[in-house]
Amino acid sequence: MDNIKSLTGMQDHFNDGDKDNLSSKFFQVEQKIKEIFINYKLEEIRTPALEDANLFNRSVGNSSDIVNKEIYAFNDRNNKTIALRPEGTASVIRSIIEKKLDQTTHKLWYMGPMWRYERPQKGRYRQFNQAGVEILGIKEGFPEFEMISLVCSIINGFNLKNCSIKINHLGTKENKQTFCDALVQYLLPFKDSLDDKDVERLNKNPLRILDTKSEKTQALLKNAPSIKDYIDQTSIEFLKSIKDQFSDLCDIEIDYSLVRGLDYYSGFVFEAISSELGAQDSFLGGGRYDHLCKKLGGKDLPSIGMALGIERFAELINTDTSSTKTVSFLIVTSNLEPKAYKIAHQLRALNKEIILDVHLSDGSLKSKLRRSNKDNADYAIIIGEDELKNNTAVIKYLKDELREQQTVTLDELYSFYKSI
Ligand code: HAM
Repeated sequence: MDNIKSLTGMQDHFNDGDKDNLSSKFFQVEQKIKEIFINYKLEEIRTPALEDANLFNRSVGNSSDIVNKEIYAFNDRNNKTIALRPEGTASVIRSIIEKKLDQTTHKLWYMGPMWRYERPQKGRYRQFNQAGVEILGIKEGFPEFEMISLVCSIINGFNLKNCSIKINHLGTKENKQTFCDALVQYLLPFKDSLDDKDVERLNKNPLRILDTKSEKTQALLKNAPSIKDYIDQTSIEFLKSIKDQFSDLCDIEIDYSLVRGLDYYSGFVFEAISSELGAQDSFLGGGRYDHLCKKLGGKDLPSIGMALGIERFAELINTDTSSTKTVSFLIVTSNLEPKAYKIAHQLRALNKEIILDVHLSDGSLKSKLRRSNKDNADYAIIIGEDELKNNTAVIKYLKDELREQQTVTLDELYSFYKSI
């Protein structure tokens, strides 16, 4: 019988403790991002993976690639068309409207899997995970600063190099429409020289042409109208002030050709990219979406948000960024020794900052130490039959080869552990 395999573009993430392994980095990212979100006093929200498919038609938009080609939608047993969420923003707004919380402000975060039926390649999967933030109920101003501050904290918190934040402003709904019309007028005479994908964009979602990969279209766009000439001076000044405020923290660039792939954006938009990622170079994106809540049947709720692709981001982080120390607890006796487990239990209570890894499987001291080194543990505490008899333990300094291991009393062990 053939083995059953995972679906195309869908990955398992297995945290096997090898800090350089991509999956382990995935979990490191999740954990640290969560700490940053909490530090910004954001509240967690978790919405279902499945939604009424209409939610995404009405928010992400019928003209977007996501809804047009990439949505995982199907009929359930009751013939209702449901969809696996391709992103988190629409679900958050749906939830806020449903709970009648759309007249107050909220600062929210979420994390979880999203699904898009894309052609898989490096950094592009059919199931991927996002960590997202939505600030609801506050109009343009402080939230934009808070959002870019958060992006800088993420980039600097993980010590990322070779990345930059691009920002742009799409103006008001009317500005965006006038610019779209001008772009279409400019490109129509060249329609025959555009590739099929760009012709489709020209018909359905002209702004997306600015994202074209075709060199021919890119050359044409050099003389095309720029959004800069369609938005007001205040918006341009706003972009400049964001750049000025944060340029000492991160590389920030105003990019008037930055458009986002989802229809709900208006006003300020941004993306964080890294030159280390290859073709899929954007690891975070977001922007203002002031009209979405009303469009979904709720109140006027000016909002802004962003989402980070956890798999792409994990590619970028170098080593373990946490400063938490790990101690291996090695029991080397032939019998089950409840007293040894009691010592481990007491140690854990003494210092909650430390990861104490009790090796549960049988094996020689040598193999257990090999495993401890592989796990990048800082110290090993070794307890054998002699130690149990004498109420002592051995401390081995795994990161300091020159330092001799030490036999200590249990009281000394507890003091040592508290002081790590
Ligand atoms: P998005 O730009 O479509 O925005 O996705 C955000 C991030 O998710 C991307 O920058 C990328 O890192 C990751 N991502 C997207 N598609 C894939 C894929 N197929 N495989 C791997 N990673 C992927 C949104 O989803 C908006 N909801 C962001 C937002 C929140 N705007 C306002 N609030």
